[in-house]
Amino acid sequence: EKGGYEHFMLKEIHEQPNAIRDTYRGRLLANEGIIRMAGIDDNLEKFLNANRIIIVACGTSWHAGLVAEYIFEDLARIPVEVEYASEFRYRNPVITDKDVVIAISQSGETADTLAAIKLAKSKGAFVFGVCNVVGSTIARETNAGAYTHAGPEIGVASTKAFTTQITVLTLIALKLAKANGSMSKTVFHSHLQELELIPDKVKEALKADKHIKEVAHIYKDAKNCLYLGRGYNFPVALEGALKLKEISYIHAEGYPAAEMKHGPIALIDDQMPVFVIATKKGHYEKVVSNIQEIKSRSGKIIGIVTKGDIDVKKVADHVIEVPETIESLTPLLTTIPLQLLSYHIAVMLDKNVDQPRNLAKSVTVE
Ligand code: F6R
Repeated sequence: EKGGYEHFMLKEIHEQPNAIRDTYRGRLLANEGIIRMAGIDDNLEKFLNANRIIIVACGTSWHAGLVAEYIFEDLARIPVEVEYASEFRYRNPVITDKDVVIAISQSGETADTLAAIKLAKSKGAFVFGVCNVVGSTIARETNAGAYTHAGPEIGVASTKAFTTQITVLTLIALKLAKANGSMSKTVFHSHLQELELIPDKVKEALKADKHIKEVAHIYKDAKNCLYLGRGYNFPVALEGALKLKEISYIHAEGYPAAEMKHGPIALIDDQMPVFVIATKKGHYEKVVSNIQEIKSRSGKIIGIVTKGDIDVKKVADHVIEVPETIESLTPLLTTIPLQLLSYHIAVMLDKNVDQPRNLAKSVTVE
């Protein structure tokens, strides 16, 4: 059942090229220049007339929501707010029938997300679900939705659910960008073509596994780790840190790289590994200067870089390469090495990778 892999998590990490392809199959018609999604087509006016989109989710799904915020605002010019479902529901939020709420949940059973949906519906908002489990409670409670089609995710630490959630949300954002005129036909087409290349690029990113394992070996005994990224890759830094915490029990924090100097930089010494996402597009030069700030305080730097990178390589202790793509799609690639890294560290520390202590696959308590 683990398909020859030692753990479900590793199997699911390696399933991502196919899972992403399954997610856009029948939806992304690159040659025709169309994105077909019934749940959006049938409710297009609601999305186009929305004052804003509010995304509610928990954990890794919330991180996918944060990536979506960048995508929706950048590509479709629609204002987005991303909320922890558990906070949203208890703070008397301002919601009207002009709001569209997108609820993201792998299991479709998360109690706080479900409660947030019920609240939003009671205020008249249109609620759209992005779930993986077909027929789940959230899939049934929402007004419309789109499944991720990632296949069953057994490992408690979410991997393929995350990248397929981002894929679905990218499809939605692109569709709305085209429909509301924020994106030209040419740019739309080039995005579709780039998205179609992602499964092969994920496959290529997975090939760094051996090198990632070596890096994991060097840092497995760290007590604390920092993860930094900017823009589209800031949520990836949060997700990288969460993956490490969950399965290896090493304390880790994700931060926007530029926020370092407002506090966390005080933590940096030669015992602190800092994983920095520094891909070619997206504030590259700024991130390189953030890396220099860490270097001058003796921090250990592991850069997640674009293939062929030169500048980060000069200053980092290690680099892990991912293929080049357009900025909005980089999270689908930069996430991969961080998943593998957490996996290998947890295995080396002899932790229960698929069923970490204190965690459950679906959190049905509030
Ligand atoms: C992280 C993880 C959790 C879930 C969170 C939401 O690896 O598994 O943080 O992402 O509990 O779960 P869903 O997406 O099922 O609502």
